[in-house]
Amino acid sequence: MKNKLQNLKQEILERLEKAADILQLQELEEKYLGRKGELTLLLKEVGNLPAAERKETGKLANEIRTEIKQKLIEIKKKLDKNIHNDEFFDATLPGTKIASGHLHPLTQVQRDLEKIFSSMGFMILDGPELESDYYNFEALNIPKSHPARDMQDTFYINHKNKQGEYDMVMRTHTSNVQVRAMEKYGAPLRGVALGKIYRNEATDQRHEHTFYQIEGLMVDKDISIAHLMAVLREMFKRLFDQSANIRLRPGFFSFVEPGVEVEMSCLLCKGKGCPVCKRTGWVEMLGAGLVHPNVLRAGGIDSKIYSGFAFGTGIERLAMMKYGIDDIRLFHSGDLYFLKQF
Ligand code: DAH
Repeated sequence: MKNKLQNLKQEILERLEKAADILQLQELEEKYLGRKGELTLLLKEVGNLPAAERKETGKLANEIRTEIKQKLIEIKKKLDKNIHNDEFFDATLPGTKIASGHLHPLTQVQRDLEKIFSSMGFMILDGPELESDYYNFEALNIPKSHPARDMQDTFYINHKNKQGEYDMVMRTHTSNVQVRAMEKYGAPLRGVALGKIYRNEATDQRHEHTFYQIEGLMVDKDISIAHLMAVLREMFKRLFDQSANIRLRPGFFSFVEPGVEVEMSCLLCKGKGCPVCKRTGWVEMLGAGLVHPNVLRAGGIDSKIYSGFAFGTGIERLAMMKYGIDDIRLFHSGDLYFLKQF
């Protein structure tokens, strides 16, 4: 009998230890300690033993029952704890994030620029992408015969004026907004125009047929190159880096006099010289100058009283410099691996 009890005790303890959850534990309790449980029945048998054996075996049986009951409580506690761990719900944890898109890097740079110029008192101007030959060229001091037209490969629209000349183009630059803005707002005037432009270009790493530009225009009394430099320096510092500096070199654009090409100190090598800046420490960033008197006149502004500066550049070019992108075609490729980086 004692052996039977010891063996059963061993079996029960082992199986209790292996119980995976409360349900299994309850089943075991029923199996061994229930009304018809194996241990219960064995304990009942003890009562039938001869008196001499009964006392000692009964003591052992009680000890075994107590031990098993204690073990049951202990294991129940352990399993209970696990359950509570699994079910613990923290209502303050953030939920699963729903995947959403974000603004295209060009839109981000465009918005940065709008913020920078708005804070300097510039209006955000808009102009048509399908433009007349007049606003795109003529009013900007680029007459029909002028060689400057050759620099901009133009998409002419199949539409002729009364003289039988093609008179509508996909705008080749955002400079078309200059005379439109002067006509609409007069002087003094401060504005930037950002938007899409078109060139009949073969596409390569640095050229696209469709891209974005920003145009700046400021007209007031006594505006000089110093104002241009101050505004551009502020733009480069805020868009790129506080350490950005600029320098000017003479350049030709029919609608400004003098015309300049603006270079920014290379941010990659901090002006020391590297492959990106062709070891010069400077990178060409935009065209600018003082608005040509003919252009002011076309805009109905008296060039004897007012002067102004204008500048223009590609937004892709700014974004490429800002993010270190070496192929302009990536912007319009629709490649998610590229876009997700911004
Ligand atoms: N429109 C010129 C281009 O697309 C850029 C430009 C140069 C704009 C000089 C300007 C300027 O306003 O003053 O290449």
